[in-house]
Amino acid sequence: MDKKIKIGIIGLGAMGKGHYKNIKTVPEFEITALSDVNMDGMKDYSEAKFASGEELINKGDVEAIVIVTPHFDHVPLAVAALKKGLHVLIEKPVSVQMKDAKILLDAHKDKGRVVACVFNNRTSQVYMKMREMVSSGELGAIQRVNMTVTQWFRSDAYFKSAGWRATWAGEGGGALLNQCPHSLDLLQWITGMPKRVTANVGFGKHHDIEVEDEVTAILEYPNGAVGTFVTSTAEAPGLNRIEIAGDQGLLICDNNNLTYTRNEVRAKKFLKETEERFAVPPVWNVSIPAKVPTFDELHQNIHRNFKDAILKGVAPVASLQESVNSLELANAMLLSGFLNKPVDLPIDSEIYAAELEKRMKTSRFKKG
Ligand SMILES: NC(=O)c1ccc[n+]([C@@H]2O[C@H](COP(=O)([O-])OP(=O)(O)OC[C@H]3O[C@@H](n4cnc5c(N)ncnc54)[C@H](O)[C@@H]3O)[C@@H](O)[C@H]2O)c1
Repeated sequence: MDKKIKIGIIGLGAMGKGHYKNIKTVPEFEITALSDVNMDGMKDYSEAKFASGEELINKGDVEAIVIVTPHFDHVPLAVAALKKGLHVLIEKPVSVQMKDAKILLDAHKDKGRVVACVFNNRTSQVYMKMREMVSSGELGAIQRVNMTVTQWFRSDAYFKSAGWRATWAGEGGGALLNQCPHSLDLLQWITGMPKRVTANVGFGKHHDIEVEDEVTAILEYPNGAVGTFVTSTAEAPGLNRIEIAGDQGLLICDNNNLTYTRNEVRAKKFLKETEERFAVPPVWNVSIPAKVPTFDELHQNIHRNFKDAILKGVAPVASLQESVNSLELANAMLLSGFLNKPVDLPIDSEIYAAELEKRMKTSRFKKG
Protein backbone atom coordinates (compact mmCIF):
# COMPACT_ATOMS: atom_id res chain seq x y z
CA MET A 1 0.00 0.00 0.00
CA ASP A 2 1.09 3.56 -0.67
CA LYS A 3 1.93 5.90 2.16
CA LYS A 4 -0.77 5.99 4.86
CA ILE A 5 -2.72 9.12 5.76
CA LYS A 6 -1.61 10.24 9.22
CA ILE A 7 -4.67 11.23 11.17
CA GLY A 8 -5.28 12.72 14.63
CA ILE A 9 -8.41 12.66 16.78
CA ILE A 10 -9.31 15.71 18.88
CA GLY A 11 -11.68 14.91 21.73
CA LEU A 12 -11.46 11.38 23.05
CA GLY A 13 -14.80 11.20 24.81
CA ALA A 14 -17.64 8.81 23.99
CA MET A 15 -17.68 9.50 20.23
CA GLY A 16 -13.95 10.12 19.92
CA LYS A 17 -13.32 6.57 21.17
CA GLY A 18 -15.82 5.33 18.58
CA HIS A 19 -13.92 7.17 15.84
CA TYR A 20 -10.66 5.65 17.08
CA LYS A 21 -12.12 2.12 16.80
CA ASN A 22 -13.72 2.69 13.39
CA ILE A 23 -10.80 4.53 11.78
CA LYS A 24 -8.70 1.48 12.67
CA THR A 25 -10.81 -0.54 10.20
CA VAL A 26 -9.62 1.64 7.29
CA PRO A 27 -6.08 0.47 6.43
CA GLU A 28 -5.22 3.66 4.54
CA PHE A 29 -5.33 5.64 7.81
CA GLU A 30 -2.71 5.60 10.53
CA ILE A 31 -3.76 7.23 13.80
CA THR A 32 -0.66 9.14 14.91
CA ALA A 33 -1.98 11.65 17.46
CA LEU A 34 -4.70 12.08 20.05
CA SER A 35 -5.81 15.09 22.02
CA ASP A 36 -8.11 15.67 24.92
CA VAL A 37 -8.18 18.41 27.54
CA ASN A 38 -8.61 15.53 29.98
CA MET A 39 -5.24 13.78 29.60
CA ASP A 40 -6.35 11.01 31.96
CA GLY A 41 -8.93 9.81 29.44
CA MET A 42 -6.12 8.98 26.98
CA LYS A 43 -3.84 7.00 29.30
CA ASP A 44 -4.66 3.62 27.72
CA TYR A 45 -3.61 4.75 24.23
CA SER A 46 -0.12 4.48 22.77
CA GLU A 47 -0.25 7.28 20.18
CA ALA A 48 1.29 10.74 20.72
CA LYS A 49 -0.90 12.69 23.15
CA PHE A 50 -1.61 16.41 23.26
CA ALA A 51 -3.33 18.40 26.01
CA SER A 52 -5.23 20.60 23.55
CA GLY A 53 -6.55 20.38 20.04
CA GLU A 54 -4.49 23.43 19.04
CA GLU A 55 -1.31 21.70 20.20
CA LEU A 56 -2.11 18.57 18.19
CA ILE A 57 -2.77 20.69 15.10
CA ASN A 58 0.47 22.66 15.47
CA LYS A 59 2.84 19.97 16.70
CA GLY A 60 1.29 16.62 15.77
CA ASP A 61 2.58 14.51 12.86
CA VAL A 62 -0.76 14.59 11.03
CA GLU A 63 -2.22 15.32 7.59
CA ALA A 64 -5.84 15.03 8.68
CA ILE A 65 -7.85 15.44 11.87
CA VAL A 66 -11.25 14.44 13.21
CA ILE A 67 -12.88 16.95 15.56
CA VAL A 68 -15.00 15.22 18.19
CA THR A 69 -15.19 17.89 20.89
CA PRO A 70 -18.26 19.72 22.19
CA HIS A 71 -19.83 22.02 19.60
CA PHE A 72 -18.37 25.45 20.45
CA ASP A 73 -14.83 24.23 19.65
CA HIS A 74 -15.60 22.76 16.22
CA VAL A 75 -15.09 25.94 14.17
CA PRO A 76 -11.95 27.36 15.92
CA LEU A 77 -10.24 23.96 15.67
CA ALA A 78 -11.24 23.43 12.03
CA VAL A 79 -10.03 26.93 11.08
CA ALA A 80 -6.69 26.31 12.84
CA ALA A 81 -6.35 22.96 11.03
CA LEU A 82 -7.04 24.53 7.62
CA LYS A 83 -4.37 27.16 8.34
CA LYS A 84 -1.94 24.26 8.78
CA GLY A 85 -3.10 22.70 5.50
CA LEU A 86 -4.82 19.69 7.13
CA HIS A 87 -7.88 17.79 5.93
CA VAL A 88 -10.76 18.01 8.42
CA LEU A 89 -13.62 15.74 9.40
CA ILE A 90 -15.99 17.46 11.86
CA GLU A 91 -18.59 15.88 14.07
CA LYS A 92 -22.06 17.29 13.77
CA PRO A 93 -23.24 19.99 14.18
CA VAL A 94 -20.66 22.05 12.26
CA SER A 95 -21.11 24.72 14.93
CA VAL A 96 -23.67 26.24 17.23
CA GLN A 97 -24.67 29.09 14.94
CA MET A 98 -24.48 30.14 11.31
CA LYS A 99 -22.27 33.14 12.10
CA ASP A 100 -19.48 30.74 13.17
CA ALA A 101 -20.18 28.31 10.32
CA LYS A 102 -19.64 31.19 7.87
CA ILE A 103 -16.20 31.82 9.38
CA LEU A 104 -15.29 28.23 8.55
CA LEU A 105 -16.82 28.40 5.08
CA ASP A 106 -14.68 31.51 4.43
CA ALA A 107 -11.58 29.79 5.81
CA HIS A 108 -12.00 26.84 3.43
CA LYS A 109 -10.22 28.52 0.52
CA ASP A 110 -7.94 25.68 -0.56
CA LYS A 111 -10.41 23.20 -2.04
CA GLY A 112 -7.57 20.68 -2.21
CA ARG A 113 -8.15 20.31 1.55
CA VAL A 114 -11.17 18.15 2.33
CA VAL A 115 -13.64 19.47 4.91
CA ALA A 116 -16.43 17.01 5.61
CA CYS A 117 -18.96 16.44 8.34
CA VAL A 118 -20.04 13.24 10.12
CA PHE A 119 -23.57 12.88 8.78
CA ASN A 120 -23.31 9.10 8.86
CA ASN A 121 -27.05 8.44 8.37
CA ARG A 122 -26.71 9.63 4.78
CA THR A 123 -24.91 6.35 4.07
CA SER A 124 -27.90 4.24 5.18
CA GLN A 125 -29.73 2.55 2.29
CA VAL A 126 -33.04 3.55 3.89
CA TYR A 127 -32.41 7.28 3.51
CA MET A 128 -30.53 6.91 0.23
CA LYS A 129 -33.64 5.27 -1.26
CA MET A 130 -35.91 7.99 0.09
CA ARG A 131 -33.70 10.66 -1.43
CA GLU A 132 -33.54 8.81 -4.73
CA MET A 133 -37.35 8.51 -4.86
CA VAL A 134 -37.74 12.25 -4.39
CA SER A 135 -34.89 13.42 -6.63
CA SER A 136 -35.72 11.00 -9.49
CA GLY A 137 -39.30 12.30 -9.59
CA GLU A 138 -40.72 8.86 -8.70
CA LEU A 139 -42.83 10.43 -5.93
CA GLY A 140 -43.97 13.28 -8.16
CA ALA A 141 -44.27 16.86 -6.93
CA ILE A 142 -44.04 16.93 -3.13
CA GLN A 143 -47.17 18.24 -1.40
CA ARG A 144 -46.42 17.56 2.27
CA VAL A 145 -43.50 16.48 4.45
CA ASN A 146 -43.85 15.53 8.11
CA MET A 147 -40.97 14.51 10.30
CA THR A 148 -41.57 13.51 13.90
CA VAL A 149 -38.56 12.61 16.00
CA THR A 150 -39.69 12.32 19.58
CA GLN A 151 -37.61 9.29 20.46
CA TRP A 152 -35.14 11.53 22.31
CA PHE A 153 -36.61 11.08 25.80
CA ARG A 154 -34.13 12.35 28.37
CA SER A 155 -34.43 12.37 32.17
CA ASP A 156 -33.51 15.25 34.47
CA ALA A 157 -30.57 13.10 35.60
CA TYR A 158 -29.20 13.20 32.04
CA PHE A 159 -29.31 16.98 31.90
CA LYS A 160 -27.74 17.26 35.37
CA SER A 161 -24.90 14.88 34.44
CA ALA A 162 -22.65 17.75 33.24
CA GLY A 163 -22.85 21.48 33.97
CA TRP A 164 -22.61 22.54 30.32
CA ARG A 165 -25.52 20.39 29.18
CA ALA A 166 -28.69 22.12 28.03
CA THR A 167 -27.33 25.61 28.78
CA TRP A 168 -27.01 28.48 26.29
CA ALA A 169 -23.37 29.19 27.19
CA GLY A 170 -22.29 25.55 27.46
CA GLU A 171 -24.13 23.91 24.58
CA GLY A 172 -25.67 26.76 22.59
CA GLY A 173 -29.04 25.04 22.22
CA GLY A 174 -31.00 21.96 23.19
CA ALA A 175 -32.83 19.27 21.25
CA LEU A 176 -32.25 20.99 17.90
CA LEU A 177 -28.48 21.29 18.39
CA ASN A 178 -27.74 18.15 20.35
CA GLN A 179 -30.25 15.44 19.44
CA CYS A 180 -31.65 16.55 16.06
CA PRO A 181 -28.79 17.46 13.68
CA HIS A 182 -28.98 14.07 11.91
CA SER A 183 -32.75 14.33 11.47
CA LEU A 184 -32.61 17.92 10.25
CA ASP A 185 -29.83 16.95 7.87
CA LEU A 186 -31.83 14.04 6.44
CA LEU A 187 -34.91 16.22 6.11
CA GLN A 188 -33.10 18.81 4.00
CA TRP A 189 -31.02 16.18 2.16
CA ILE A 190 -34.12 14.30 1.05
CA THR A 191 -36.60 17.10 0.39
CA GLY A 192 -34.52 20.30 0.13
CA MET A 193 -34.54 23.43 2.23
CA PRO A 194 -37.75 25.26 3.14
CA LYS A 195 -37.94 28.98 2.44
CA ARG A 196 -39.81 29.87 5.65
CA VAL A 197 -40.03 28.38 9.14
CA THR A 198 -42.56 29.12 11.88
CA ALA A 199 -41.83 27.34 15.14
CA ASN A 200 -43.50 26.90 18.48
CA VAL A 201 -40.56 26.26 20.80
CA GLY A 202 -40.76 25.16 24.43
CA PHE A 203 -37.72 26.36 26.37
CA GLY A 204 -37.35 24.31 29.53
CA LYS A 205 -41.00 23.34 29.12
CA HIS A 206 -40.64 19.86 30.63
CA HIS A 207 -37.20 19.87 32.26
CA ASP A 208 -35.35 22.32 34.49
CA ILE A 209 -33.14 23.46 31.60
CA GLU A 210 -32.48 26.74 29.74
CA VAL A 211 -32.76 25.48 26.19
CA GLU A 212 -35.46 23.92 24.00
CA ASP A 213 -36.96 20.55 24.92
CA GLU A 214 -39.97 20.67 22.56
CA VAL A 215 -40.35 22.05 19.03
CA THR A 216 -43.21 22.04 16.54
CA ALA A 217 -42.26 23.82 13.32
CA ILE A 218 -44.18 24.54 10.14
CA LEU A 219 -41.99 24.50 7.04
CA GLU A 220 -42.93 26.23 3.79
CA TYR A 221 -41.12 25.05 0.65
CA PRO A 222 -40.37 26.98 -2.54
CA ASN A 223 -42.77 24.76 -4.59
CA GLY A 224 -45.67 25.50 -2.21
CA ALA A 225 -45.36 22.23 -0.26
CA VAL A 226 -45.88 22.52 3.49
CA GLY A 227 -44.21 20.40 6.14
CA THR A 228 -43.87 19.95 9.86
CA PHE A 229 -40.94 19.06 12.06
CA VAL A 230 -41.70 17.88 15.58
CA THR A 231 -39.27 16.94 18.29
CA SER A 232 -39.29 16.53 22.04
CA THR A 233 -37.00 15.22 24.76
CA ALA A 234 -39.90 14.59 27.13
CA GLU A 235 -42.37 12.53 25.13
CA ALA A 236 -42.63 8.79 25.84
CA PRO A 237 -43.06 6.55 23.99
CA GLY A 238 -41.48 8.49 21.18
CA LEU A 239 -41.74 8.24 17.41
CA ASN A 240 -39.22 8.28 14.57
CA ARG A 241 -41.24 8.83 11.44
CA ILE A 242 -40.99 10.63 8.13
CA GLU A 243 -43.96 10.99 5.78
CA ILE A 244 -43.58 12.41 2.30
CA ALA A 245 -46.76 12.86 0.31
CA GLY A 246 -46.12 13.34 -3.39
CA ASP A 247 -48.40 13.44 -6.41
CA GLN A 248 -47.50 9.81 -7.14
CA GLY A 249 -48.08 8.49 -3.61
CA LEU A 250 -47.13 8.35 0.04
CA LEU A 251 -43.68 7.34 1.25
CA ILE A 252 -43.37 6.53 4.95
CA CYS A 253 -40.27 5.71 6.93
CA ASP A 254 -41.24 4.41 10.33
CA ASN A 255 -38.25 3.46 12.45
CA ASN A 256 -36.23 2.52 9.37
CA ASN A 257 -39.13 0.61 7.74
CA LEU A 258 -39.97 1.98 4.32
CA THR A 259 -43.43 1.67 2.78
CA TYR A 260 -44.65 3.27 -0.40
CA THR A 261 -48.32 3.49 -1.35
CA ARG A 262 -48.18 4.30 -5.04
CA ASN A 263 -51.09 5.88 -6.90
CA GLU A 264 -51.87 4.21 -10.21
CA VAL A 265 -52.80 7.65 -11.48
CA ARG A 266 -51.16 10.79 -10.12
CA ALA A 267 -53.37 12.50 -7.53
CA LYS A 268 -53.68 15.86 -9.30
CA LYS A 269 -54.58 14.20 -12.64
CA PHE A 270 -57.09 11.88 -10.95
CA LEU A 271 -58.89 14.64 -9.07
CA LYS A 272 -59.32 16.63 -12.27
CA GLU A 273 -60.43 13.73 -14.46
CA THR A 274 -62.63 11.47 -12.33
CA GLU A 275 -66.37 12.01 -12.57
CA GLU A 276 -67.06 10.24 -9.30
CA ARG A 277 -67.49 12.41 -6.21
CA PHE A 278 -65.71 10.26 -3.61
CA ALA A 279 -63.35 8.22 -5.72
CA VAL A 280 -59.66 7.97 -4.77
CA PRO A 281 -56.85 6.75 -7.02
CA PRO A 282 -56.30 2.96 -6.84
CA VAL A 283 -52.94 2.13 -5.27
CA TRP A 284 -50.17 -0.44 -5.20
CA ASN A 285 -48.62 -1.26 -1.86
CA VAL A 286 -44.90 -1.34 -2.38
CA SER A 287 -42.53 -2.48 0.30
CA ILE A 288 -39.01 -1.28 -0.22
CA PRO A 289 -36.18 -3.49 1.03
CA ALA A 290 -33.32 -1.54 2.56
CA LYS A 291 -30.55 -2.87 4.72
CA VAL A 292 -30.26 -1.06 8.05
CA PRO A 293 -26.57 -0.72 8.88
CA THR A 294 -25.15 -0.68 12.39
CA PHE A 295 -23.95 2.55 13.96
CA ASP A 296 -20.32 1.45 13.50
CA GLU A 297 -20.89 0.56 9.83
CA LEU A 298 -22.34 4.02 9.21
CA HIS A 299 -19.28 5.63 10.75
CA GLN A 300 -16.90 3.39 8.82
CA ASN A 301 -18.66 4.48 5.62
CA ILE A 302 -17.86 8.08 6.54
CA HIS A 303 -14.22 7.25 7.28
CA ARG A 304 -13.79 5.37 4.00
CA ASN A 305 -15.38 8.23 2.10
CA PHE A 306 -13.10 10.75 3.89
CA LYS A 307 -10.11 8.64 2.83
CA ASP A 308 -11.36 8.53 -0.81
CA ALA A 309 -11.99 12.27 -0.77
CA ILE A 310 -8.36 12.84 0.33
CA LEU A 311 -6.74 10.26 -1.94
CA LYS A 312 -8.97 10.29 -5.02
CA GLY A 313 -10.84 13.57 -4.83
CA VAL A 314 -14.28 11.93 -4.61
CA ALA A 315 -17.03 14.13 -3.20
CA PRO A 316 -17.53 13.90 0.56
CA VAL A 317 -20.80 12.26 1.67
CA ALA A 318 -21.49 15.51 3.53
CA SER A 319 -19.46 18.46 2.32
CA LEU A 320 -19.07 21.51 4.53
CA GLN A 321 -21.27 23.61 2.21
CA GLU A 322 -24.14 21.17 2.56
CA SER A 323 -23.56 20.29 6.19
CA VAL A 324 -24.41 23.78 7.34
CA ASN A 325 -28.00 23.39 6.06
CA SER A 326 -29.10 21.44 9.13
CA LEU A 327 -27.57 24.13 11.32
CA GLU A 328 -29.40 26.80 9.34
CA LEU A 329 -32.67 24.91 9.93
CA ALA A 330 -31.99 24.53 13.67
CA ASN A 331 -31.09 28.22 13.98
CA ALA A 332 -34.18 29.23 11.97
CA MET A 333 -36.49 27.23 14.26
CA LEU A 334 -34.87 28.68 17.38
CA LEU A 335 -34.96 32.22 15.98
CA SER A 336 -38.64 31.82 15.19
CA GLY A 337 -39.12 30.69 18.80
CA PHE A 338 -37.03 33.58 20.19
CA LEU A 339 -38.89 36.21 18.16
CA ASN A 340 -42.25 34.45 18.11
CA LYS A 341 -42.72 34.99 14.39
CA PRO A 342 -42.00 33.31 11.02
CA VAL A 343 -38.39 33.40 9.81
CA ASP A 344 -37.28 33.43 6.17
CA LEU A 345 -34.25 31.41 5.06
CA PRO A 346 -31.38 32.03 4.78
CA ILE A 347 -31.59 33.53 8.26
CA ASP A 348 -29.90 36.76 9.31
CA SER A 349 -26.99 35.23 11.21
CA GLU A 350 -26.18 38.56 12.96
CA ILE A 351 -29.68 38.77 14.45
CA TYR A 352 -29.39 35.15 15.55
CA ALA A 353 -25.97 35.82 17.11
CA ALA A 354 -27.35 38.80 19.06
CA GLU A 355 -30.30 36.74 20.36
CA LEU A 356 -28.00 33.87 21.37
CA GLU A 357 -25.56 36.28 23.04
CA LYS A 358 -28.38 37.71 25.21
CA ARG A 359 -29.18 34.21 26.43
CA MET A 360 -25.53 33.24 26.92
CA LYS A 361 -25.01 36.29 29.16
CA THR A 362 -27.66 35.13 31.62
CA SER A 363 -26.84 31.42 31.26
CA ARG A 364 -26.30 29.47 34.47
CA PHE A 365 -23.18 27.90 32.87
CA LYS A 366 -19.99 29.95 33.19
CA LYS A 367 -16.98 28.88 31.11
CA GLY A 368 -14.09 27.85 33.39
N1 LIG B 1 -22.27 11.34 14.52
C1 LIG B 1 -22.88 10.81 15.56
O1 LIG B 1 -23.63 9.85 15.41
C2 LIG B 1 -22.66 11.38 16.94
C3 LIG B 1 -23.16 10.74 18.08
C4 LIG B 1 -22.90 11.32 19.34
C5 LIG B 1 -22.18 12.52 19.45
N2 LIG B 1 -21.72 13.13 18.30
C6 LIG B 1 -20.96 14.40 18.36
O2 LIG B 1 -19.63 14.13 18.82
C7 LIG B 1 -19.12 15.28 19.50
C8 LIG B 1 -18.61 14.86 20.88
O3 LIG B 1 -19.66 14.25 21.61
P1 LIG B 1 -19.36 13.20 22.78
O4 LIG B 1 -20.67 12.59 23.09
O5 LIG B 1 -18.21 12.35 22.44
O6 LIG B 1 -18.95 14.20 23.96
P2 LIG B 1 -18.02 13.84 25.22
O7 LIG B 1 -18.28 14.91 26.23
O8 LIG B 1 -18.19 12.41 25.61
O9 LIG B 1 -16.52 13.97 24.64
C9 LIG B 1 -15.94 15.19 24.26
C10 LIG B 1 -14.46 15.11 24.62
O10 LIG B 1 -13.80 16.27 24.12
C11 LIG B 1 -12.87 16.72 25.07
N3 LIG B 1 -12.59 18.12 24.79
C12 LIG B 1 -13.36 19.21 25.03
N4 LIG B 1 -12.80 20.32 24.51
C13 LIG B 1 -11.66 19.93 23.92
C14 LIG B 1 -10.63 20.60 23.20
N5 LIG B 1 -10.69 21.92 22.96
N6 LIG B 1 -9.56 19.89 22.73
C15 LIG B 1 -9.50 18.55 22.96
N7 LIG B 1 -10.44 17.85 23.63
C16 LIG B 1 -11.50 18.53 24.09
C17 LIG B 1 -13.53 16.44 26.41
O11 LIG B 1 -12.60 16.35 27.48
C18 LIG B 1 -14.20 15.09 26.12
O12 LIG B 1 -13.37 13.99 26.43
C19 LIG B 1 -20.26 16.29 19.54
O13 LIG B 1 -20.13 17.20 18.47
C20 LIG B 1 -21.51 15.43 19.33
O14 LIG B 1 -22.58 16.15 18.76
C21 LIG B 1 -21.94 12.57 17.07
